[in-house]
Amino acid sequence: MTTRRSLIAGNWKMHKTGDEAVQTVQQLKTLVADAGDVEVMVAPPFTALTQVATTLAGSTIALGAQNMHWEAKGAFTGEIAPAMLVSAGCRYVIIGHSERRQFFGETDATVNRKIHAALAAGLSPVFCIGESEAQRDAGQTFSVLDKQVKNGLEGLFSKDLQSLVVAYEPIWAIGTGKTATNDQAQEVHAHLRRLMAEILDNTLAQTMRILYGGSVNPGNVKGLMAMPDLDGALVGGASLDPETFSQLVHYQG
Ligand code: 13P
Repeated sequence: MTTRRSLIAGNWKMHKTGDEAVQTVQQLKTLVADAGDVEVMVAPPFTALTQVATTLAGSTIALGAQNMHWEAKGAFTGEIAPAMLVSAGCRYVIIGHSERRQFFGETDATVNRKIHAALAAGLSPVFCIGESEAQRDAGQTFSVLDKQVKNGLEGLFSKDLQSLVVAYEPIWAIGTGKTATNDQAQEVHAHLRRLMAEILDNTLAQTMRILYGGSVNPGNVKGLMAMPDLDGALVGGASLDPETFSQLVHYQG
C-alpha cells in the first residue's frame, strides 16, 4: 500500500496584515514543531509572504500563496507572477479556489493555464475543485468534478504532475459549518483517485495527495482524516488561530 504524507494547509484568505501573520506563525512554529509525519503549510495574503518566509526560516512549515497569474511578466496590473512567489519563498500555490471562480471570473481554462505556469516555475499547485449544493442535489457531483479535473489538467501528463496536490472543496461546505460527512468525502476522494488512474496513470493516482476542505475543525478532523483516500485538509476559518490550527495538525494525537 502506498503511504501518502498528510498535508494540513491553512488558507488564510483575506485575513491578517504582515505583522499579524508573523505573530501567528511565530506561535505556530512552536506548536507544530513536533508534527514530523504531517506536513504543514500556510498560505497568507501576498503582502505577508516575505515577512512570513523570514519568520519561518529553519522551520518545516511550508509557505504557499493563494493565487497567481499565468504569465511570467507584463502589463497585468494587480497580478503576481509565478517567479515572484518563488522568490518570496513559496513552495505551494493554491489554484482555482471556488472563491476565485465565483467572485473573480476564473474558469477551468484559466485554472489550466495557471497549473501549467506553476509547475513550470517549480511550484506545487494545490488544485481546487468542488460542486455547488444545487449540483450535488441534482446528482451531478461526479460529472462536475470530472469536467473540472479534465479541463484543469489538459495538456499535462503524469510526469509533469508529481508535485500536484488536489483539494476537494464542496462549495456548500466552505465557511458554512456544514462539513461533508466522512463517507461523502471518502466517496468523492475514491472517485477522484480512480479518475486520475484513468486519465493519467495508476502510480500517480496512488501517490497523489487529495485534500478535503470545507468547515474542517478540531471536532471533525480526526474522522475525516481516518478515511483511506483523504490525505490532509485545506482549512480556512480554523487555520487563523494558531492553537486551533495546531489541533488540526495533531489530529492523530
Ligand atoms: P473553511 O474551512 O472556512 O470552510 O474554508 C475552507 C476553504 O475554503 C479552504 O480553502
